[in-house]
Amino acid sequence: MNKKIVVLTGAGVSAESGIRTFRDSWGLWEEYKIEDVATFDAWVRNPVLVLEFYNQRRKQLCEVSPNLAHFALVKLEEKYDVRIITQNVDDLHERAGSTNVMHLHGELKKARSTKDPELVYEIEGWELKIGDKCEKGSQLRPHIVWFGEAVPMIEPASELASEADIFIVIGTSLNVYPAAGLIHYVPAGSPKYLVDPNAVYLQGIPNLSILQEKAGTGVPLLVERLLSL
Ligand code: OAD
Repeated sequence: MNKKIVVLTGAGVSAESGIRTFRDSWGLWEEYKIEDVATFDAWVRNPVLVLEFYNQRRKQLCEVSPNLAHFALVKLEEKYDVRIITQNVDDLHERAGSTNVMHLHGELKKARSTKDPELVYEIEGWELKIGDKCEKGSQLRPHIVWFGEAVPMIEPASELASEADIFIVIGTSLNVYPAAGLIHYVPAGSPKYLVDPNAVYLQGIPNLSILQEKAGTGVPLLVERLLSL
């Protein structure tokens, strides 16, 4: 059986595709306040603004493509059982061709009923509007995990992390929990790699190697190394 590689990605893996990260300089949270666009309270207070924020993100997503980092992770499947856990709401891992992608914070291209969270729909085009309703007649909201909301996929993600033979973290500031805690589920003996051009705060993690590179450079290098083992 192939070894299992679990990869945790964040906004940095899509940065070279032209998608803004959240906390770097020029990050989205410099221009917008989280409490205005990414909480349930914001949705109740000003749904038009919240829809507009995600509509703009969705529109942009339609115009960009996966980059070398996304494609390198697909190549890794030649030799390994690769499971991607992404905090990103874009679909660039899927569009590159990765077969096993778990979205922790939701998906930009999907909408969800405000009455029944089980009702999730693909959004046609880029716009979700006031008046777009689910089959039970309630307004659709972005299928995004907002701040303060539960993260339904965290349990299966923790389980995956605990089964990792190798764990790779790419382009995340590890500021947002519970995602940032996943690395603590990885067995102590499993090699761990971090690819990020900036120093990310990670302390007391055994067997950790850091590649201080952009994802588009560092991930293909790491993948070549792992394929040659
Ligand atoms: P952040 O914006 O917090 O962090 C981005 C990380 O990517 C930083 O560590 C950067 O150094 C790194 N980075 C920048 N350019 C890079 C590149 N070319 N290659 C590799 N790394 C690069 O984004 P996340 O950690 O993903 O949640 O943010 C986590 C969550 O906070 C998001 O999922 C989102 C956000 O608020 C929700 O909206 C619920």
